[in-house]
Amino acid sequence: MVKTTIDNIKAKIDSGEFKVAVVGLGYVGLPLAVEFAKAGFPVVGIDVDGNKTDSINRGISYIPDVPTEDVAKLVEDGKLRATTDFSEIRSVDGIIICVPTPLSKTKDPDMRYIQSAAQSVARYLRPGHVISLESTTYPGTTDEFVKPILESSGLKVGKDIYLAFSPERIDPGNKKYQVKNTPKVVGGVDPASTEIVSYLYSHVIDKVIPVSSAKAAEMTKLLENTFRSVNIALVNEFAIMSNILGIDIWEVIEAASTKPFGFMPFYPGPGIGGHCIPIDPHYLSWKLKTLNYNARFIELASEINTNMPRYVVQRVADALNEFEKSIKGSKILVLGVAYKKDIDDTRESPALDIIKLLEEKGAEVIYNDPYVPELNFNGKQRKSVDLTGELLNSVDCVVIATDHSDYDYRWLVENAKLIIDTKNATKDVPEDIKNQKVVKL
Ligand SMILES: NC(=O)c1ccc[n+]([C@@H]2O[C@H](COP(=O)([O-])OP(=O)(O)OC[C@H]3O[C@@H](n4cnc5c(N)ncnc54)[C@H](O)[C@@H]3O)[C@@H](O)[C@H]2O)c1
Repeated sequence: MVKTTIDNIKAKIDSGEFKVAVVGLGYVGLPLAVEFAKAGFPVVGIDVDGNKTDSINRGISYIPDVPTEDVAKLVEDGKLRATTDFSEIRSVDGIIICVPTPLSKTKDPDMRYIQSAAQSVARYLRPGHVISLESTTYPGTTDEFVKPILESSGLKVGKDIYLAFSPERIDPGNKKYQVKNTPKVVGGVDPASTEIVSYLYSHVIDKVIPVSSAKAAEMTKLLENTFRSVNIALVNEFAIMSNILGIDIWEVIEAASTKPFGFMPFYPGPGIGGHCIPIDPHYLSWKLKTLNYNARFIELASEINTNMPRYVVQRVADALNEFEKSIKGSKILVLGVAYKKDIDDTRESPALDIIKLLEEKGAEVIYNDPYVPELNFNGKQRKSVDLTGELLNSVDCVVIATDHSDYDYRWLVENAKLIIDTKNATKDVPEDIKNQKVVKL
């Protein structure tokens, strides 16, 4: 029987000789590179940032979810290395692209990173190459944007090379679900691409879900993240409405969560952050705008979530007012500047907006974050202050913006004069200790 190209590629994947390049070694790319290497694939990471490639080659991880021991062992065993040299693409078989997809100032997709990575890859393509795009992006990117760049090499997708989109679902800081045990959706530009790329991932990830097209895979990711953005906005608005009505939103969510079907709890907070939830839905609304459709849920959710830092600052002003103080001239300590608990990522963090708004109103703002020792923000190089009872007592107000597990909330409440708790982090502190000095969102 004549073996097809697909059979040959599958046989190479089975043999353990299929070499993989991961392009972009950030929060998504490094964990993925490590997982492929752990599964036995020889992996080369390619990044434009020489500090990152140097760090990997020295066996040191810079992503909190990826233990340095893992990187060191894989590098020592010759399973993982990193480079800034794209010509390495020639010697690999599979290429996974995990570069950033930010928004421009006008909230349009900034496709420069995908474009540049795809162009660099195209330069070294050869028949048999298998390519997967993981960066979150608008539906149509893989077919309409990446495929033409790759085909500028003269090779045809589906015939000479294989191309799919597979959204990354990594949840930084999540101890239960990581790369391996989070099911992976794969949609190829053509059926052969879906088959090969799914086959490749199935050697590394417990469960692979093939879908009928790259567009369907791209839309899946946008549904997941828009679902979060909309539900967070809904509960944020419920928090605002509950406050007006004198109801405790946290008690309401807890009670609603007892419904065994048809309800899923989301929790209010100071806004949304990170590289995904605040950004990804705009990729979809941008695409729909080009087709004269207005994605109303996305816009409304974004409006509510973006306004939350302003709402928090209003609550700070109201709370200080009770002490006959104004924001102007007050010393305010912000606890947690990462966008969520137990991670070090400050991208799009609402805590930064809160700091900026408080400073605009004339407050002296300091911060503490065990994961973020330094912060260059709003024209200032800042350092996380040491938390002492004396410090807590010296500030007019503490704003809990991120509910890191490391904090001793009882001790914080005991020592602070006034706390604005945007995450209900102090829920287990007895009411008599809180003594009315904790204001919940
Ligand atoms: N961080 C998350 O939790 C998460 C989760 C799911 C999906 N995503 C998506 O994954 C993608 C990557 O996100 P991230 O958080 O890993 O970003 P990141 O900024 O942490 O990492 C991206 C890496 O790509 C490198 N890079 C930039 N341009 C490059 C190029 N032309 N060639 C090679 N390397 C290049 C950067 O130096 C950086 O190391 C984004 O599209 C994001 O939306 C992120």
